[in-house]
Order: sequence, then C-alpha cells, then structure tokens
Amino acid sequence: QAADDYQQMEHAAKFFAHQLRHHSNSDKVVSYLKGRGLSGEVVKAFQIGYAPDGWDDLLKALGKDQGSRQQLVDLKLCNRNDSGRYYDFFRDRVMFPIRDRRGRVVGFGGRILEGDGPKYLNSPETRIFHKGRELYGFYEAKQAHRQLEQVVIVEGYMDVVALAQHGIDFAVASLGTATTTEQLQMLFRTTQKVVCCYDGDRAGRDAAWRALENALPLLTDGLELSFLFLPDGEDPDTLVRKEGPEAFKQRLSEAQSFTHYFFAHLTESLDLSKDSGRAKLLKEAKPLIEKLASDYYRDALLEQLARLLRREVSQIADQVQRPQAVRN
Ligand code: CTP
Ligand code: MN
Ligand code: MN
Ligand code: MN
Ligand code: MN
Repeated sequence: QAADDYQQMEHAAKFFAHQLRHHSNSDKVVSYLKGRGLSGEVVKAFQIGYAPDGWDDLLKALGKDQGSRQQLVDLKLCNRNDSGRYYDFFRDRVMFPIRDRRGRVVGFGGRILEGDGPKYLNSPETRIFHKGRELYGFYEAKQAHRQLEQVVIVEGYMDVVALAQHGIDFAVASLGTATTTEQLQMLFRTTQKVVCCYDGDRAGRDAAWRALENALPLLTDGLELSFLFLPDGEDPDTLVRKEGPEAFKQRLSEAQSFTHYFFAHLTESLDLSKDSGRAKLLKEAKPLIEKLASDYYRDALLEQLARLLRREVSQIADQVQRPQAVRN
C-alpha cells in the first residue's frame, strides 16, 4: 500500500511537471515563473509543475479504476462530492512537490496564479504526509551538498526556490506552520548550524520566537542556532532578488546568535533599572533556560542573566534547575 502511495504521488508530480510544458495554459504559467525570476533549470530541479484549470485532468490521467480513484482521494489529490463525483483538489495552480528526506513525494503546495482564492493550498495530512515532520527543500539541499555546512529555514516555497536560483541552495521551508521540534531535530542530525530567516512582518517575528522555544531542548554543545531578521515587508525571495546573493550571504553571516536574540526578545518591553522589571525577566527566563540541553549554553545564558539582574552567577544558578535527562 505505502510503496504504491509514493509511486502515485511521483506520478502526480510528473503529471504536473508535464502540464507545465504542454498544457494550453503553458505560456501563462511559464511567464509567471519567469516573472518571478526563475530559470528553467531551477524549475526542473524542484520539479515545479502546473495543475490544470479543468475539474478532473489529474483524475483522468491517474484514476483508471475504482481502486486508484480511491487512492487519489486518500492522498488528497482528488475529492469526492456527495453525489459521488470525483474532482481534482488542485486546479489552475503552480505546483511544488514536497519530498521527504529520502526524496519521496509526500505532498504538494499549490500557488494560485492570479485572481480570487487562497494564495496557497497545501495537501492536507494523509497517511504519508505529516506537516510538522517534513521540510520543503531539504532533500534538494542535501542533493546539492555532500556535507551541509548550514541550513537556512524560511517560511515559503518561493523563498526556498528563489534562494536556490541565486546559488543559496541550502534553504528549507517549514510549510506554513511554526517550525517544530521534530523539524529542527531532523536538521540538526544533518548540520551543526541552522539560521532562521522568516518574513519581515509580525507573523515572521512570532515564528522566530516559537522556533527558538522549540529548539531549546535540542541545543547540545556544538550546535549553532541563529536568527536573521529581514527589513519590514521583505521576505527572502524579495530581498535576494533586490540585493543579490552576496548581500544576502553577508546578512546570513551576521545573523543574531540565539543567546543574543533570547535576551533581546525577553527584555524588549522591560525596564531593567526597576526591581519589577528584573523580577519579570528572571521569571520568564528561568523556565526557558531549564529546557536547555547544553551546559555551555546554559552557563552562557546564566552569566548574561546574572549581569542583567545585577546578581552573582552563583545566586542565579541555584534557582535554575538542570534538565532531568539530556535528550537527543
Ligand atoms: N502559506 C500557506 N497558506 C497560506 C499562506 C501561506 O500554507 N494561505 C504558507 C506557504 O507555505 C507559503 C508560506 O506560508 O509558501 C509563506 O506565506 P506568505 O509569506 O504569505 O507567502 P508570500 O511570500 O506572500 O507568497 P508569494 O511570495 O508566493 O507571493
Ligand atoms: Mn551550494
Ligand atoms: Mn509573511
Ligand atoms: Mn512571504
Ligand atoms: Mn513571498
């Protein structure tokens, strides 16, 4: 069953890629992708495709019998309405196949070309697709590098692809949700250095803090996590196209360490010249530092915390417990 599911998903990816070249809307879709700065080479590397604007093009191509139609429904590539009619889930969209870390297609993201409707549609969870466990572009990044020195986490498909277009071929996207502990764990098994680079807006800044919280139990000595905050209104796609890859790489190399961001965020709205401000900082920092798996980072944060609280490190350290057992 499972092997067959992956095969069917691969067939769907091939179908969409084929439509991008041969459908009667091909010109419109290709010029959309060109307009976003993508070359044919990158489109091919990510196997970007097109879901036709008809109701059942994929269904006709892949749903030869009742069994395969039911499978398309199970894989959320097709829906079945109350009167028993089947129709395609993705219609008139640019298609991004999502591969698992072994390269198997497990889901799709589909972007609208223009007009009404949600900008992105993603495959719902299926028996082979679990959003919080996958990272768009991870397989492709691993293919491009024998050893991944660093990985950049971004929000969107287009961010991954645009960065790759500019030679920054080590970005992954966390599929529209907050980056999960599972996703971070998967990355830290492959690389020692992760840079979070979300959109320069409220949602992006919130996503950064949640990623930091989710990373704390994983950060063992030697792992590096940092944060690149983009100018307001920019995302990695718009910025790399505006500034070019060298400027973007420069920004990456200057990303804030997580220890720096940790206190910058926690003290943002506190007045540390007051007892009340310092008490609040201790209260908020304590449970987070207790999650850390690394002695090195724990000591670094405790030292910094003591300085901000105007106390001795030993006084602070007594109040902050070590984790019960080191995970990972
Ligand atoms: N996303 C989603 N569903 C939405 C909107 C966004 O799943 N309705 C996810 C997609 O993975 C998308 C990512 O969040 O790639 C980033 O969203 P956003 O920043 O809103 O996308 P834009 O940058 O505006 O998209 P584009 O560059 O394609 O215009
Ligand atoms: Mn490279
Ligand atoms: Mn955004
Ligand atoms: Mn964006
Ligand atoms: Mn964008």
